[in-house]
Amino acid sequence: MSDSKDAPTSDTLPRIAMIGVGSMGGAILAGLRAPEVDIALPIVVTTKSVTSAQAFAGDDDVTALSSEQDADANKTAVRDAELVVLAVKPWMVRDVVREIANDLAPGAVVVSVAAGVPSSAIEDKLPDGVPVVRAMPNTPATIGLGVTGIAAGAAATDAHIELVRRLFATVGEVLVVREDQINDIAAVSGSGPAYLFLYAEEMTQAAERRGFDEDQARVLVQQTIVGAAELWAHSDDTPEELRRKVTSPKGTTEQAVLVLQEANWGELFDRALAANARRSEELERGE
Ligand SMILES: NC(=O)c1ccc[n+]([C@@H]2O[C@H](COP(=O)([O-])OP(=O)(O)OC[C@H]3O[C@@H](n4cnc5c(N)ncnc54)[C@H](OP(=O)(O)O)[C@@H]3O)[C@@H](O)[C@H]2O)c1
Repeated sequence: MSDSKDAPTSDTLPRIAMIGVGSMGGAILAGLRAPEVDIALPIVVTTKSVTSAQAFAGDDDVTALSSEQDADANKTAVRDAELVVLAVKPWMVRDVVREIANDLAPGAVVVSVAAGVPSSAIEDKLPDGVPVVRAMPNTPATIGLGVTGIAAGAAATDAHIELVRRLFATVGEVLVVREDQINDIAAVSGSGPAYLFLYAEEMTQAAERRGFDEDQARVLVQQTIVGAAELWAHSDDTPEELRRKVTSPKGTTEQAVLVLQEANWGELFDRALAANARRSEELERGE
């Protein structure tokens, strides 16, 4: 097991412990394991089941411990870590924090990606002054194309935020926001991939109903989404300008766009994001 991929420098990310490596923890871990990321190794991760931990057997850069196999796994994982990332389900966060509170290394920063768990709920269970940072990433982090909102808790300084920004910069773009904006980050980008996949599902089925087979429909829809997203990323135009460029007056696109606009997407998206943020608030109240 090496101590880092190269000799550590001031840019080397410090020792990280990740409590939970499911969909989101796994996405972040995949980013951290990219060859170009300079990080102190090994990254220590914990899982509940032995089977999940066994997925890392034989890996040099990751040490995986299962809490089912070793009741002290989470405590052991955090002892040497400067950054502790909590990536368990929201309703488990408080228990996990209580569990690790007295084993954190001095100066460790606790980062929670859990939806609907305020930093104050985490700080309450930690010794005074332990810095907590909320983060709201999304699953494209798995391929380095995530976007993460991060917000400081009461004891987190600019230096802590900068450290956490560097952590999430390994998996995509990072926005530093106020904590009262985190639920809206969750609504827009945290859950955002699901909305795009819903669009892809519906458009693929509509293409199939127009006579394309499954593979043809997938290629048509997937490449349209990827191509349009890249076009936007490579352009200074707004989505509205890009839409107008493919919408000639009296043309075919215009007819489809008119039908879609009848559904009043603005109001629909307002309602969808409000429902998402409402659920975060319910989670905050423990419902
Ligand atoms: N998924 C998203 O798109 C997304 C986006 C933003 C934020 N988040 C947040 O990310 C967090 C995790 O969500 P997820 O979708 O990644 O959940 P998940 O796939 O169910 O993963 C949970 C992970 O926690 C582990 N775990 C469970 N109990 C544990 C314990 N006592 N000690 C240590 N590890 C334990 C699980 O291990 P086993 O595999 O052994 O069960 C698994 O690795 C949530 O708080 C969620 O709000 C998710």
